Amino acid sequence: MEHHSFILKGNICYAENKDYLSVIDNGYLVCCQGISRGVYPCLPEKYQNLPVIDYHDMLIIPGMTDLHIHAPQYSFRGLGMDLELLEWLDTHTFPEESRYADLEYARKAYRIFTEDLQNSATTRAVVFGTIHIPATNLLMELLDSTGLKTYAGKVNMDQNSPDHLTEKDAESALESTAAWLSEMKDRYPNTQPIITPRFAPTCTGPLLEGLGRLQKEYRLPVQSHLSENLSEIDWVKELFPWSTCYGGVYDHYGLFGGDAKTVMAHCVYSSEEEVALMKKNKVYIAHCPQSNINLSSGIAPVRRYLEEGIPMGLGTDMAGGANMSMFRCIADAIGVSKLYWRLADQERKPLTMEEAFYLATKGGGSFFGKAGSFEEGYELDALVLDDSGIRSAKELDTKERLEQYLYLAGEGGRLAGKYVAGKNIFGSEM
Ligand code: GUN
Ligand code: FE
Repeated sequence: MEHHSFILKGNICYAENKDYLSVIDNGYLVCCQGISRGVYPCLPEKYQNLPVIDYHDMLIIPGMTDLHIHAPQYSFRGLGMDLELLEWLDTHTFPEESRYADLEYARKAYRIFTEDLQNSATTRAVVFGTIHIPATNLLMELLDSTGLKTYAGKVNMDQNSPDHLTEKDAESALESTAAWLSEMKDRYPNTQPIITPRFAPTCTGPLLEGLGRLQKEYRLPVQSHLSENLSEIDWVKELFPWSTCYGGVYDHYGLFGGDAKTVMAHCVYSSEEEVALMKKNKVYIAHCPQSNINLSSGIAPVRRYLEEGIPMGLGTDMAGGANMSMFRCIADAIGVSKLYWRLADQERKPLTMEEAFYLATKGGGSFFGKAGSFEEGYELDALVLDDSGIRSAKELDTKERLEQYLYLAGEGGRLAGKYVAGKNIFGSEM
């Protein structure tokens, strides 16, 4: 059976909102047909017949959403981290992405990527592919088989990129993208296509306009990049002088929220006008702290976005970020927010652990609907954390153990179980 009904027992932590972490020691998390029926300190009578999977003293937390990750960039993670965005794209990213014209290379690389993602703390992800349809279809097939819930995008770019990574013209790009969307929409249970203009500088107006039309026709979400780097923003001004802000370019073509569910990566330098537009259109921000460090992009004002109520989650932006770990992403988000507070704006307090945890779970999970929490009615995505290898003489309460795990996952932490929409991704029941 695809979706099981069962109970997970352990020390359960989850966030219903950004300000508070619910902790239930030795609690019961009830899953019926893949959906959470709530968390209980004592098991209600009506669930007594369900099988209990007892994780004893381990921590049980909601799965995490990586709202922005580039699958083809996994192979050069950790390399070339000394350049800014535009030079990094030209020097490292575009040459590597060109290789995905070769399906055999794509198979080798995407197998590694999807296996590692399956074994990571990520339960849901919004993924960039490349312009190549066969390789992107293969990526989708592999992603689907992981059991993770994902969106994957065939990238569109028809200008300002090397010949071997540029679609011939807007018309042919749109024709092949429409064929790809109709072939891939609803083809897989776990993986859906997403409309993916790379970013405004590599897309002509006619391409963006056509993608806006395809969005309306197929009613699929949109992902792209926004206001990541100062040179990028100047370039967008040159290319689209009629637009009063970068986000206004996407908005003009119907690719900026409203009816089109949209996630924009970065938003490090969004103007007042852009922030207001994101707020009005309910555009998601994928905050990618490690990428913003590595590419010397800057620090996104996440406290401001939280205060404005803009929907937001976290992204690794692999390979702008070198790590796939969402735990690392949480720690980095907290870290850069402290630098922002200290160096840029003393009015914007650093993120708390609760807030960063919320962003990684329910914040980003909401892009998929009811995901990222254990509240009743949510799809049951859960991680089981064994922290027994993170040794300490000090007695810690459950919240402290989780906090330590976020920082030390790679130094003694072990993922002991992973469930997505009620399905055990690691394959074997305890
Ligand atoms: N902007 C356009 N393409 C990219 C990319 O691949 N990574 C990042 N970080 N920003 C981009
Ligand atoms: Fe990116």
